[in-house]
Amino acid sequence: MNLREKIRNVPDFPQQGIDFKDITTLLKDGKAFRVAIDMLSAHYQDKHIDVVVGPEARGFAVGAPVAYVLGAGFVPIRKPGKLPAEIISYEYSLEYGKDALEIHKDAIEPGSSVLIVDDLLATGGTTMATVKMVERLGGKVAGLAFLIELSFLNGRQVLAGYDINSLVQY
Ligand code: PRP
Repeated sequence: MNLREKIRNVPDFPQQGIDFKDITTLLKDGKAFRVAIDMLSAHYQDKHIDVVVGPEARGFAVGAPVAYVLGAGFVPIRKPGKLPAEIISYEYSLEYGKDALEIHKDAIEPGSSVLIVDDLLATGGTTMATVKMVERLGGKVAGLAFLIELSFLNGRQVLAGYDINSLVQY
């Protein structure tokens, strides 16, 4: 299965000069979706992951099935104003813009083993914000897993010291 072929390239989206990696073409293909989730999960089968944390929105589509396969819980990281209970938040830089993310204060048990999953690693801003919030709540980040890594944006350097896995690199 060539997962790279299942990812659609959309030039100049959402703005001029951005080469958007569209995973909807992979997600709608049942076989490709299963292979991608199984491959991502395989690396963590024996790592005793307690919870998978996934950032809105594409991190839900990839993170939740990985959590299910691992028998772990799933915790959403959301954009501001969406989570109903007590939250902590973190401001971060995006590939194109700036934003903040939020997590429920009681989402992570102190000392629990956390796998962060997202569709894409670009600048690493979203993942770093997620790492900071998980660690602030006492979680131990056991790994960072992505379908896609835009290597030329050097997200890995921002996240140096963490165990990073990606299935398709550009
Ligand atoms: C995208 C992507 C990652 C993030 C990667 O999400 O799904 O979460 O950007 O970029 P970074 O490494 O530079 O932080 P986006 O904020 O576009 O939200 P969406 O999933 O709701 O489309």
